Amino acid sequence: MNIKTLFAAYVRQQKQLQLPDVVFGDVSVCRVFSVKKPGAVPVKARPSVRQESAEAPAIKTVKKTVAPAAATENGQSVTDSRNKLASLRKIDRSEIAPRVRRSAAAQPAAAAGAALSFEQKRDALKKLFFSGCSLCHLAQSRKKMVFGSGNVDAPVVIVGEAPGEEEDRQGIPFVGPAGQLLTQMLAAVKLDRAKDTFITNVLKCHPPANRNPESAEIVTCFPLLKKQIEIIHPKAILLLGRIAAHAVLGNAGSISSMRSKVFTYNTIPCMVIYHPAALLHNVAYKRPAWEDLKKFKELLDSLGVYGSLQQQQK
Ligand code: URA
Repeated sequence: MNIKTLFAAYVRQQKQLQLPDVVFGDVSVCRVFSVKKPGAVPVKARPSVRQESAEAPAIKTVKKTVAPAAATENGQSVTDSRNKLASLRKIDRSEIAPRVRRSAAAQPAAAAGAALSFEQKRDALKKLFFSGCSLCHLAQSRKKMVFGSGNVDAPVVIVGEAPGEEEDRQGIPFVGPAGQLLTQMLAAVKLDRAKDTFITNVLKCHPPANRNPESAEIVTCFPLLKKQIEIIHPKAILLLGRIAAHAVLGNAGSISSMRSKVFTYNTIPCMVIYHPAALLHNVAYKRPAWEDLKKFKELLDSLGVYGSLQQQQK
């Protein structure tokens, strides 16, 4: 009897005996073995993996496949593992691995997108978009996933926080009031958002009631942004507001401490400015935001991006 058949028999038997299925209830394991996920068992009723493993010889094999392996190998109960997962929601932003690097030389270049043609970047992003995402609970409440918009081969990637209500409705980032202000600000420094930038957010789904993104959501969603940046491989990144700055730079500083400085993310120069929504709420931020945007334009100039933008526009 091969392992697949044995596993299926085990699941059937657990169901028939109305015994809780602990280890095999893990979705990823069920997928690995292509077995229909057995009926959900209340977490509280689940015995520990240790107890279960004494009853089922097949568990040893499966245990290796269950993630996180360390949790089961340490003999923690599934309840413990679940609690651990639930506690992810409380992770402080400072727990996001530091990604800021002041020295470009110390970093391997994020070269994945550098060698890609426009068509390759477009296709890679399309594939990523169509893979969709339901990794966190926001997938249930969203109307549309807001992947990003603009030029897939843009020299500038702009990262905001999370889609608002209007963005959720349209599936396009920065189309509400803050987005309209952003479009005007970009135009003021001669950046056409559709041609010169690719705009996206740290979170691709709207947090209900416009609440702040939770740390666990940021941690879950960040790999998608990372991949987008890898594919586009922009010359520079503009980070709008604290959430984007913290997520990308792994830096828990205030905007006032980060603005006007050039950071790097995987060798790509980044600057942080106040989020346009903050400008709508507090006019005092308008002047520093404008100063910072001009500095970002100077950075593009110094990187030779601005010249190339003008050439493209001819
Ligand atoms: N605010 C953001 O951070 N992103 C959007 O897409 C819209 C508003």
